[in-house]
Amino acid sequence: MVKDKNNLGIDLMKPFLKWAGGKYKSIDKIKSVLPSGHRLVEPFCGSCAVSLNLDYENYLLADFNQDLINLYKILVAENQHFINYAKSFFTEENRTSEKYYELRYLFNTTNNIRLKSALFVYLNRHGFNGLCRYNSKGLYNVPIGSYKTIYFPELEMKNFADKLKNAKFVCQSFEKTLQQANKRDIVYCDPPYMPLNTKSSFTSYTEYGFELDAQKYLAQLADDYYDKGYKIFISNHDTELTQSLYKKSSIKSFDVRRMISANGTNRGFAPELIACYN
Ligand SMILES: C[S@@+](CC[C@H](N)C(=O)[O-])C[C@H]1O[C@@H](n2cnc3c(N)ncnc32)[C@H](O)[C@@H]1O
Repeated sequence: MVKDKNNLGIDLMKPFLKWAGGKYKSIDKIKSVLPSGHRLVEPFCGSCAVSLNLDYENYLLADFNQDLINLYKILVAENQHFINYAKSFFTEENRTSEKYYELRYLFNTTNNIRLKSALFVYLNRHGFNGLCRYNSKGLYNVPIGSYKTIYFPELEMKNFADKLKNAKFVCQSFEKTLQQANKRDIVYCDPPYMPLNTKSSFTSYTEYGFELDAQKYLAQLADDYYDKGYKIFISNHDTELTQSLYKKSSIKSFDVRRMISANGTNRGFAPELIACYN
């Protein structure tokens, strides 16, 4: 299995998608907090950075983004066959602005899930900042990005398909995934970040967004499930509000070096926490 090195000097498997809020750079912290267990349940799996780098026998990986889950299902089912197909869109002629918007339109209008999934990989690498954003009608609306070189993540896709070939992927909201967990599972929740300040909110992975009520509901559910004997862990920014939301848990705080604004220029240390209900 080919592995990658991140800037922490730890061997890690890199997700093949660029994903806002991805936990690739916090894996060592998450690893040190999550206990071993039979199955890892991720109600907000995103790029799957966590499951790719933690070893459990089984995985239940859920997210509310239907395009993401369709892509994962096809990738693990077809493996190299689908990788070759996705690669066929990474050509010189598809790098122009005209082609980008043509393929984005095709993505938004096709009913062919295999084509849509391959285009999702294309858009992820050619769109602005690797963002995944939809308008209120559910149409993908990220503008073209400006890149000197475009990388096709062949090895990363192969690693994903091999490592997570037996995982169960489902598209559903977090409350449903929590209902499907059991007391033997380790449940790792990584919801869209609570804003660090009023200007820095990015919550459009799906057309539904993720507002304060949803953050509160998740925290309430974690309290309830913890009382029933479940093991739940939640990542978020470390703010007064999150400290108060997760007050019934044992909170581990740490700093992560990452991009904290959507324009790609504002890098720094952002305080994060993992609320441990176990
Ligand atoms: C911070 S990201 C997760 C990142 C992931 N841990 C990783 O390392 O890539 C949050 C994810 O929550 C998903 N999401 C948003 N609202 C949701 C909901 N109501 N239920 C489940 N997933 C949701 C988004 O699509 C996004 O992938």
